[in-house]
Amino acid sequence: MGVAMFGVVKILILYQLIILLSWSMESSAGSEQNMSKLTLDGVDVMGERLTKEVLDVIQQKPNLRNISFVAHSVGGLVARYAIGRLYRPPKEEVKEDISSNGCKEEPRGTIGGLEAVNFITVASPHLGSRGNKQVPFLFGVTAFEKAASRVIHWIFRRTGRHLFLTDDDEGKPPLLKRMLEDHDEFYFMSALRLFKRRVLYSNVGYDHIVGWRTSSIRRNSELPKWKESLNEMYPHIVYEEHCKACDADQYETISTEYDGSSDKLEEELVRGLSRVSWEKIDVSFHTSRLRFAAHSVIQVKDEVMHIEGADVIQHMIDHFLT
Ligand SMILES: *[C@@H]1O[C@H](CO)[C@@H](O)[C@H](O)[C@H]1NC(C)=O
Ligand SMILES: *[C@@H]1O[C@H](CO)[C@@H](O)[C@H](O)[C@H]1NC(C)=O
Repeated sequence: MGVAMFGVVKILILYQLIILLSWSMESSAGSEQNMSKLTLDGVDVMGERLTKEVLDVIQQKPNLRNISFVAHSVGGLVARYAIGRLYRPPKEEVKEDISSNGCKEEPRGTIGGLEAVNFITVASPHLGSRGNKQVPFLFGVTAFEKAASRVIHWIFRRTGRHLFLTDDDEGKPPLLKRMLEDHDEFYFMSALRLFKRRVLYSNVGYDHIVGWRTSSIRRNSELPKWKESLNEMYPHIVYEEHCKACDADQYETISTEYDGSSDKLEEELVRGLSRVSWEKIDVSFHTSRLRFAAHSVIQVKDEVMHIEGADVIQHMIDHFLT
């Protein structure tokens, strides 16, 4: 571990802009010396940079109508930050007309002027990486995790602090918690809600970098029992679940004060993110020779080496709204 790479690929399909973000923490020969500074700047700095990149593309391509995001690992958090910055509220303020027929279409906000379609993350640490075996390579040993959260500051600088929820810029709550709400010119939740689909692909095991709960936004008790593949077309997909948005009423802020307890903070993250619906796709490479590289296989990082993850990509393509 120790090498971090961050890449953004933009794909234009007719009228749709698709932003692909990848991020990796595995060391791979050759890339060591070009350890990208980008990744270590923190989710917010990377998010601002992505926002600017996306706006540049939109400006250059006036035919674009729709936008989708597909993001791997920490890229998923960067994408969530960026959409919060790209969100534009609906043009006219229409007084809320609670008529029962509901025929009139409400004006919707946009992402940089485009219609929001797919928001897909693959093995992204939505609940951070702190505690409760969220960083499997630390074996869930609390002492290691505590030590790591300190050491990680030097290794990953701001990104690490964001993942371990130990950041407190100017005394503000941790970034991942701030990203549960809209405030000022940051429309994190409105932006997320805007997408037609929100999808979480997660490794149920063997992902030594991002644990199952954090990538699938589940509490421990919500992790489903899975067996073998559901569909021979996608041999590595072992569970699919469509989670409806939880009622806003069910969501009460536990406390506005951050008391430093990670379990409580994680519970807030789960609740906050469950206010929107999610399609959860659980993936297992447990029978694969390369299961220990699941974090990379799931996104077919290397076309030859990680080809076993191809069915997951195919699933993504088959279900992608264009
Ligand atoms: C790192 O990558 C950048 C851009 O790709 C390149 O300009 C630079 O020379 C590289 N640095 C090293 C040390 O390889
Ligand atoms: C934008 O996406 C929506 C939903 O998938 C689709 O109905 C619409 O045709 C798309 N618009 C364009 C111009 O492609």
